[in-house]
Amino acid sequence: MSRLRSATLWAIRYGLPGMAVRAAARRGDLIARLTADEALREDPFDAYDQLRARGPVVTNRFLSATATHRTASEVLRSDKFVASAGAGPNRLLDRVLTAAVDPKALGPVDPPSLLVVQPPQHTRLRKLVSRTFTPRAVNHLTGRMREVADDLLDRIPEGEPFDLVEAYAAPLPVMVISEILGVPTTMQDEFLRWGNEAAATLDPGLRWRAFWRADAALRDLNAWFENHLAHLRRDPGDDLLSKLVHDGVDNGDRLTDTELRATGLLLLGAGFETTVNLIGNAVRLLLDHPEQLAALRADPSGWANAVEEVLRYDSPVQVTLRVASEDIDLAGQRLPQGRAVITMLGGANRDPAVFSDPHTFDITRPNAREHLAFSAGIHYCLGAQLARLEASIALQALFERFDGLSLAGSPTRRGTRVLRGYTELPLRTNKKAASAATKGT
Ligand code: HEM
Repeated sequence: MSRLRSATLWAIRYGLPGMAVRAAARRGDLIARLTADEALREDPFDAYDQLRARGPVVTNRFLSATATHRTASEVLRSDKFVASAGAGPNRLLDRVLTAAVDPKALGPVDPPSLLVVQPPQHTRLRKLVSRTFTPRAVNHLTGRMREVADDLLDRIPEGEPFDLVEAYAAPLPVMVISEILGVPTTMQDEFLRWGNEAAATLDPGLRWRAFWRADAALRDLNAWFENHLAHLRRDPGDDLLSKLVHDGVDNGDRLTDTELRATGLLLLGAGFETTVNLIGNAVRLLLDHPEQLAALRADPSGWANAVEEVLRYDSPVQVTLRVASEDIDLAGQRLPQGRAVITMLGGANRDPAVFSDPHTFDITRPNAREHLAFSAGIHYCLGAQLARLEASIALQALFERFDGLSLAGSPTRRGTRVLRGYTELPLRTNKKAASAATKGT
């Protein structure tokens, strides 16, 4: 039964749309190429410019898309656009998709994930999570994040090549989010493996084999998480998940078991699958722009804006999608109910109408923070503050420790389209700037 369910879900969500998109991409359709053409994965920015040059909304037989900042913001902030086809106005598709989602293999875009549910369920879930995931609680973690970063840096061999992603950019966020959620950090390798498989499900046109692998990984992850939640019910700790499990008794509202699992898993996955990209993208950009790195070394007050500029210039999440919940006018075009609109966040972040000289990386850019890398509207990233802080701490700790970092081979980009980062970033340390004894000072 579960194999039939998986096959149905794959066919509706990825198989049939994937076939149509790949065929359109072969015919040269620009939206389809941006979605499916492997060649554009490495560098989609010229194609975003071409899309924007055709107008604020570009439409093909199946989809609309925008790479302009203004229209993307409008779509993301509008309550007339909803966050997924499964939650949209197409009742039949709704029903089939809901039935096809196996509760034992909930993924990041399966309801009731925050990413795809609508108000009032979204409002309720988000309120409950935000109550425990407060800015104060996040700021509280600054010292601990630095400790984790320094521990990882201690293990990097001096003068030898190492992979920044494996040694630092991936384990740091997974350890931080594991500590916040109160899941054992000893599970980090398993989480990274499961997370990498699950991240593929964000991409359109996922092939059956990759879907099947992701499905198996999600089953393992869900089963582990269910056991962990049962443990927290009996023996709560002082962590965010324990609070979520037990919270709400006083005010009469609490998350259902499925909501709890979906929300916890989303926080866990979103907590490391994206921040790893931000750290990796930032390191590569700064090594490619040594004069800007030197300016940051001279004046560390520039780090916060540098992180914003990385988010703008090389956005870790490039794309998201909304569906028109009714017939609607968008930037002068009439879109029918059910029309999917791809918002090219990475393209909106290079829109010359908002960012002057948009293809130049400039850590002093005054309005870098106007990027849409964390989306906008009700689904605005819940972990934005954590990600900003974590990246800033990670980068400062790395560049304070080593003053002679350089590339030691060709970096490899992730094979994903929605998430943009590196799977491998080979570096070499030339010389230690600070010994472990003086680290963090
Ligand atoms: C550089 C790091 C990150 C980036 C670029 C990023 C980006 C995003 C984006 C673009 C969305 C909205 C997608 C949409 O509108 O369809 C989102 C939502 C979300 N993010 Fe992040 N994220 C990052 C880090 C984090 C972290 C560290 C956490 C964890 C704690 C997190 C948790 C979430 C959650 C829970 C949502 C769903 C919010 C909702 O739908 O109400 N993110 N993120």
